Amino acid sequence: MFSYPVRIALIAALGGFLFGFETAVISGAEKTIMELWSLSPFWLGFTVASSLIGTVLGSLVVGIPARVYGRKKVLLAIALLYVVSAIGCASISAWLLFVLFRFMAGVAVGASSVVGPMYISEISPAPLRGRLAGSFQLNIVGGIFIAYLTNFLFAGMGDDSWRWMLGIMVVPAALFAILLRTIPESPRWLILNNREGEAVPVMQRLQEPDVPGAIKAIRESVKTHQEHLFQGRYAKPILYAVLLAMFNQLSGINAILYYAPRIFELAGFSKAEAYLQPVYIGAANLLFTLLAMTVIDKFGRKTLLLIGSLGMILFLGLTAYAFRDPAHLGGNVLIYLIGYIAFFAFSQGAVIWVFISEIFPNSVRSQGGALGSFTHWIMAAIISWTFPIIVAGSEKGGFYSFVFYSGMMLLQLLFIWKVMPETKGRSLEEIQKELGIE
Ligand code: GLC
Repeated sequence: MFSYPVRIALIAALGGFLFGFETAVISGAEKTIMELWSLSPFWLGFTVASSLIGTVLGSLVVGIPARVYGRKKVLLAIALLYVVSAIGCASISAWLLFVLFRFMAGVAVGASSVVGPMYISEISPAPLRGRLAGSFQLNIVGGIFIAYLTNFLFAGMGDDSWRWMLGIMVVPAALFAILLRTIPESPRWLILNNREGEAVPVMQRLQEPDVPGAIKAIRESVKTHQEHLFQGRYAKPILYAVLLAMFNQLSGINAILYYAPRIFELAGFSKAEAYLQPVYIGAANLLFTLLAMTVIDKFGRKTLLLIGSLGMILFLGLTAYAFRDPAHLGGNVLIYLIGYIAFFAFSQGAVIWVFISEIFPNSVRSQGGALGSFTHWIMAAIISWTFPIIVAGSEKGGFYSFVFYSGMMLLQLLFIWKVMPETKGRSLEEIQKELGIE
């Protein structure tokens, strides 16, 4: 049904599905877990954050094995981490083990956020790259949506519902592990490791129109480079990746995703409704990611980000306004947040992992991807940790938070408009030339 590159990109993108599922699933389980182990708010926060600590670590270190052992082996190791963590979380009874298994899943999330997009961008023909790398994000939002949905469905299953919520992940994780065995190693990695003989048949199957030309370009792109990211010549891609990753989280996305039920309760919805609203948020996220994917290679990354910034400034501003005046709370907040998610999904959501995976030259792509991803997870941790504190700290906490996120999107707009380059439709080596990295 699908062409070969599409098929293997979709398999690698399953790492994104597990990333999304693992990110959102905890929002449904946190209350039961808190009661089960009589956790104070501090220790509950720590338990929830244990996977975020894992993501920071996973994204930081995975560049090394990805460079040494190859992308495929690392993807397999990630799949196994997900399997073990799902079985572990569902079956243990000690709190400390729970934290450990969550941490392990976090490492897998962080690592897959680096290696998944990297692998996909390396196997994709240029005209399809945005769409194929975008399928990673589509899987993330698919995972988020399914987690919200399964949480909602399992919620009525009594004391052990949280075990089902977390344990069900073993199904996609095992599927991921099995399917990964059928994909080839990245030809760019093979060439970097002087294994051209193995790269050629892979490139032919990937429908590369000019195999010798592509090999030459890949070789030239690494010839003159040492393998160190932090050099003046890489200043531009570093700056772009770090800023884009920071703005991704400064939009408040993960605070909104993790605390969606709490936000809706604050806005005056009943508890039962507050658990259903995230399903709508998840559905809008999915829908607009799909839309973005159909146009990302046509409109380009920049146009999507410009449109998205404008929409997010508006809807975050409206959310802030609603929180300033209690008379406006209620249904409006749901509408504003759906508007916000739609613009996020259409822009930052669709672009971040594509852009970070294509902006760095071959020789330092694994390190560059790791840096972008690491920045994203550190910011995710800061934003998700501070949000409940700010909201609890003052009556106007919600207002301040959303004003801040909206202001950050204004800065993002300036950055995208004035600084960020367009990367659509160019080969990875052409992008490198354009950035002045010879
Ligand atoms: C992007 C963000 C991720 C977020 C997701 C939401 O992938 O990087 O942190 O959870 O979008 O759709």
